[in-house]
Amino acid sequence: MRFETEKYVSGGYSLARDADGVLFIKGALPGEVVDASLEYRKGKVRFFKLDGVVTPSPDRIDPGCPLYGICGGCDFLHVTPQASALLKEESVKENLSRIGKIRYGFPFEKPSYAKREGYRIRVNFHIEKGRLGFLARKGNKFVPIACCPLLDEKINEFLSKCDFYKGKTLPVFSGDDGISIGNEVVTFSGYKVNALSFFQSNKYLFKDLLDFVKENTVGSTVVDLYSGLGTFSRLFEGEKDVIAVERSEHSLKLFKLNAPSARVYSGDVASFSLPNGENAGTVIVDPPRIGLDKNVPKLITSWHPGRIIYVSCDSTTLSRDLPRFEGYKVTKGKLFDFYPGSSHEESAFVLERI
Ligand SMILES: C[S@@+](CC[C@H](N)C(=O)[O-])C[C@H]1O[C@@H](n2cnc3c(N)ncnc32)[C@H](O)[C@@H]1O
Repeated sequence: MRFETEKYVSGGYSLARDADGVLFIKGALPGEVVDASLEYRKGKVRFFKLDGVVTPSPDRIDPGCPLYGICGGCDFLHVTPQASALLKEESVKENLSRIGKIRYGFPFEKPSYAKREGYRIRVNFHIEKGRLGFLARKGNKFVPIACCPLLDEKINEFLSKCDFYKGKTLPVFSGDDGISIGNEVVTFSGYKVNALSFFQSNKYLFKDLLDFVKENTVGSTVVDLYSGLGTFSRLFEGEKDVIAVERSEHSLKLFKLNAPSARVYSGDVASFSLPNGENAGTVIVDPPRIGLDKNVPKLITSWHPGRIIYVSCDSTTLSRDLPRFEGYKVTKGKLFDFYPGSSHEESAFVLERI
């Protein structure tokens, strides 16, 4: 069936309509005429697969990867880097307004994006019969990978060695001074990192995110929740008092190397209480995709910070969480296209006390 798409939604889908209402087409871009067929239904919502592009968008490009459509790693390689960032920004705004009922009268800073080739310094390979690869886009089939255009060159070199690997998965991190495939510590941009701990995966945009967080931090005490190995805490070494909370033991070991003067607490953010008499100038939260525990916004607002900076990798949970910060309003947002080639987004927001 032939459709003309209206707008990008999220997850690589664009919206179109027919006599039965709206439908979503994976891989179609806004303003395109495409041929598509019904793939599945979820309740009343219909999801279509792209069979062909009749009138392409000017933002459509050659994906440049022979495994595109087969390997499950990417679903946004057919979009220019600039359009990728702008479409994701639209999608974040849509979620803020539809789910969060937040009117974005606040400014969005120009989105941050860069080339995608070689951007990725952190990856988790699947292993089958000793070989490394990714899972297929459909089903759980294994796709062996000899080289991936998005991976940092040191990871591609590592892939070309053709060793025999054991286990189900292999996390790999590429530092400035070598590769980590377990808990061996390497250095990236001054940070001590290993493959077992969370670390931001886009080497080109990493500094942009740090700059945004640092520029928007106020006060003399920073509370860094979901701190990982100290990515944000390290920014304030020797400048501000930092209190951090993280629950991963792997990350906590590295945290002490990255931000030695910060006070770091081990455990669940939801059960953390700020030590008596402490103030929070700025609270930084960077939760996993599931977002914040229901009680966490209330916990944070009880400390009366001047600002809250929310770094998010999922704008649906972000949009649910932001209105829960009672007495605060969003004053600024920015999209970071940390995962070009895939429809995943990353964004950061500043909230100020009303
Ligand atoms: C998206 S990462 C962010 C890490 C860090 N801010 C960074 O930029 O590298 C989320 C971190 O939160 C930690 N985490 C997840 N749930 C948590 C919880 N309930 N309490 C404390 N830490 C948690 C994870 O171990 C992970 O290190």
